[in-house]
Amino acid sequence: MFPSDGQLGPQVAEEDPRMMEPRTENEEDGHSVMIDPAPAVPPEPAGPALLLGSPSCGLADDLPIPGHRQELFPAWRGPLRVASGLSLGAFLYNFLRDVVQPFVSSRDNVFYKVPVLVTNKMLADVALTMLALVYLPGVLAAICQLLRGTKYRPFPVWLDRWMRARKQLGLLGFFFAGLHALYSLSYPVRRSYRYKLLNWAYQQVQQKKENAWVEHDVWRMEIYVSLGILGLTLLALLAVTSIPSVDDSLTWREFRWIQSNLGTASLLVGTAHVFVFTWNKWVHPSQFVWYTPPTFLLVVLLPLAVLVGKAILALPGIRWKVQRIRRGWEDPAHKLPEDMGSRL
Ligand SMILES: Cc1cc2nc3c(=O)[nH]c(=O)nc-3n(C[C@H](O)[C@H](O)[C@H](O)COP(=O)(O)OP(=O)(O)OC[C@H]3O[C@@H](n4cnc5c(N)ncnc54)[C@H](O)[C@@H]3O)c2cc1C
Ligand code: HEM
Repeated sequence: MFPSDGQLGPQVAEEDPRMMEPRTENEEDGHSVMIDPAPAVPPEPAGPALLLGSPSCGLADDLPIPGHRQELFPAWRGPLRVASGLSLGAFLYNFLRDVVQPFVSSRDNVFYKVPVLVTNKMLADVALTMLALVYLPGVLAAICQLLRGTKYRPFPVWLDRWMRARKQLGLLGFFFAGLHALYSLSYPVRRSYRYKLLNWAYQQVQQKKENAWVEHDVWRMEIYVSLGILGLTLLALLAVTSIPSVDDSLTWREFRWIQSNLGTASLLVGTAHVFVFTWNKWVHPSQFVWYTPPTFLLVVLLPLAVLVGKAILALPGIRWKVQRIRRGWEDPAHKLPEDMGSRL
């Protein structure tokens, strides 16, 4: 499902990453190459540059070879399938709860919600889930290395492919989060919202209420919008560092530091954004339409699991062991005796 390019990375010494190709992680065995997976294009028989009689450089490299069909976005197929599947599931779930249920239960026609409100919830849910899917394999990889006591054994194929697809998963997550932000900021300019506002004002006059201010609701919104903007900005920074020219100006260590730490921070801020948005909504039985849990409760489960996993891995004893393993140390308790290894 995910790209597998068989790209081998040279062993990157953590101590002096500048000596290495900045975008390869470390593995001798060719697995868990972390950054920038190259697309799985078959080796080209004779490059167009050769055919044109020029050295392999410039645009000539990208020209199609007669009789050879270039693949279209091979590295994006798996992540696009994941994003499409999640979008369809989230859209149907929200559509059923927010539109079909009121129609079936009380003949309430709220189909107007589909283009903006239902779509926006779907975008938000997919954005956060994709982000969690970017940082989950790192946790699984660390657990794998801790259990095996070495970094020299390849990761299982599915994990290896997943690790290689993180860039595409992350960029798609950023795309969904960006759309979600635009849709959210459009809320007050919609006609339906203006009518609702007028109706609320009228009802307030009828109830002889002078002030509609609800302190905790004001704080809730101020904080969750602020967290949303912060989360999106962090994702934008990650996206900028993915641009090859920016990526090339950073060392491998700097790039990995930004991606790993700012990425985890963006997941944390995104999850906090949903928690503050949720506030105490989840205690209201009205949120459990047709006995189904609201999406804001469902979508925080995976990010929460990833963040807890990351927090446990950051505990001093565990972190120290993972770092040692990454530097090439092998746990003698897991190591096969050399003569036995050669006999196997
Ligand atoms: C908008 C956006 C853009 C992105 N762009 C990119 C991109 O351009 N390229 C890209 O690769 N990813 C990209 N990502 C994905 C993601 O940010 C990175 O893959 C990030 O490095 C993952 O961090 P991590 O902490 O989960 O895992 P990692 O930093 O990869 O660590 C995972 C585990 O692998 C093992 N490990 C790490 N280093 C070593 C080592 N030296 N030796 C042995 N084992 C090791 C450890 O067990 C570690 O716990 C992007 C994400 C987003 C949201
Ligand atoms: C400028 C940035 C952002 C703004 C203004 C914003 C605004 C909002 C608003 C208004 C809602 C309520 C939607 C509704 O109930 O109709 C919401 C919910 C949500 N947001 Fe954001 N957001 C931003 C960034 C993000 C980011 C970066 C993420 C995650 C990566 C995210 C994930 C979510 C999720 C999962 C929900 C809950 C949706 C649901 O109810 O199922 N948001 N946001």
